[in-house]
Amino acid sequence: MHLRPATADDLDAIFDIYEDEVLNGVATFDTNRFSTEERRAWFDRHGSAAHPAIVLEDNGVVVGWASLSQFSTKQAYDRTAEVSVYVHKDHRGKGVGRRLLTELIQQGRNGGLGVLLARIAAEQVPSLGLHLALGFQHVGTMRRVGEKFGRVLDVELLDYQLDGEG
Ligand SMILES: CC(C)(COP(=O)(O)OP(=O)(O)OC[C@H]1O[C@@H](n2cnc3c(N)ncnc32)[C@H](O)[C@@H]1OP(=O)(O)O)[C@@H](O)C(=O)NCCC(=O)NCCS
Repeated sequence: MHLRPATADDLDAIFDIYEDEVLNGVATFDTNRFSTEERRAWFDRHGSAAHPAIVLEDNGVVVGWASLSQFSTKQAYDRTAEVSVYVHKDHRGKGVGRRLLTELIQQGRNGGLGVLLARIAAEQVPSLGLHLALGFQHVGTMRRVGEKFGRVLDVELLDYQLDGEG
């Protein structure tokens, strides 16, 4: 398995994995598929030291991806980024998410960030498990902030302090 920065050629694989959750899951609160232009805009927002996008390949096939995204357009939040990590359904439970998130934490530190945030639907047990296993801490619960598939959803807020006290 091979970790590397995402390229524009990976966009179909990245969004195939992502859109399975857009259409069928609550890992993301996006509800619509991304157009070609929106995929390209996502790619263009990533690739800097503070906002990387990475993929993990297995025999040339992208089996998962992860990114750090701008948390807010308000400049005082620039020390903070939001984590995304998505593993193809057929490749879960084999350490792919752990490798991606471990690398993302390191890249966030190298990129000069202070804090990583994760917003995770409360019922996403694997995602909560992954983040907690890698040292994210539970900050609190945003109660009933989302609604998808006709269900009102709580969201857990987790953080990882890169440069401060636990
Ligand atoms: C969450 C997700 C990325 C985990 O990826 P994965 O490759 O299956 O996870 P790994 O095999 O690397 O597991 C790493 C750790 O995560 C936790 N974990 C993984 N699956 C779990 C599960 N089903 N239940 C509880 N904890 C789990 C464990 O702590 C595990 O460590 P261990 O293997 O030593 O027990 C993957 O399930 C996924 O893509 N889910 C849908 C998208 C999503 O929820 N993304 C997060 C939103 S930002």
